[in-house]
Amino acid sequence: MSKVELFANERASGYDQFVEAWIPNYHYFLDCLPKLLTDTDPKELLVVGCGTGNEIQKLVTKGKTWNITGIDPSPEMIQQARQKLEGYPNIVLAEALIQDLKNDKKYDAATLLLVLHFLEDNGSKLELLKEIGKRLVLGAPLVMLDITGDSSMIKENLKILRLLLSDDIPEEQISLRLNRIENELFHVSEDRLAALCVEAGFEVPVRFFQSMIYMGWMTKKR
Ligand SMILES: C[S@@+](CC[C@H](N)C(=O)[O-])C[C@H]1O[C@@H](n2cnc3c(N)ncnc32)[C@H](O)[C@@H]1O
Repeated sequence: MSKVELFANERASGYDQFVEAWIPNYHYFLDCLPKLLTDTDPKELLVVGCGTGNEIQKLVTKGKTWNITGIDPSPEMIQQARQKLEGYPNIVLAEALIQDLKNDKKYDAATLLLVLHFLEDNGSKLELLKEIGKRLVLGAPLVMLDITGDSSMIKENLKILRLLLSDDIPEEQISLRLNRIENELFHVSEDRLAALCVEAGFEVPVRFFQSMIYMGWMTKKR
């Protein structure tokens, strides 16, 4: 069973402010999603680790009529998603892991944003990718956003991230957070991410976005 990184208390309630402060170009990335997925015109879309529902919100407000299933294991995150996305008949939200979804239903596209770097590369990342793959039709796109890079790349990009953070964030908080990213999260190199995708039954992913340590990837189910 994959590791679960639960978001609770202030980490959950403050999540939307957190992304504003710490992830440059987060909203730009989310804004790209409807167009990135237009090519395949997915009907059934799976949003894994949907958190507070930010990516789903972008996907439903662009006039698309996809049926969207958003899953997340953190009750306090999915609760915020429910509030944000109330009243959309084409959205189903569940407090769940991918393994909880029956794999007889197939999806036409999936997203996995800011989740993979919480899982160790000890089989957990691979398992999550495989479980997503099992639930996708052939050729379905999977869009990922992840902290990616070997340790020297992460180190250098963290220095750049530090330059761009708001002057309002206390230095102590910056050091703590950057140290945690560098030493406690499970980022892998671009080559390793590609190998994991291929082993899980996807094509070699294409990096189409980078905002310092955050890289956006597009792959397809083989
Ligand atoms: C940083 S948030 C990302 C939320 C959203 N995707 C976004 O881009 O804003 C990470 C989310 O991953 C969820 N998560 C943790 N472990 C997970 C797992 N094993 N599978 C799927 N989601 C997981 C957490 O509950 C949390 O809501």
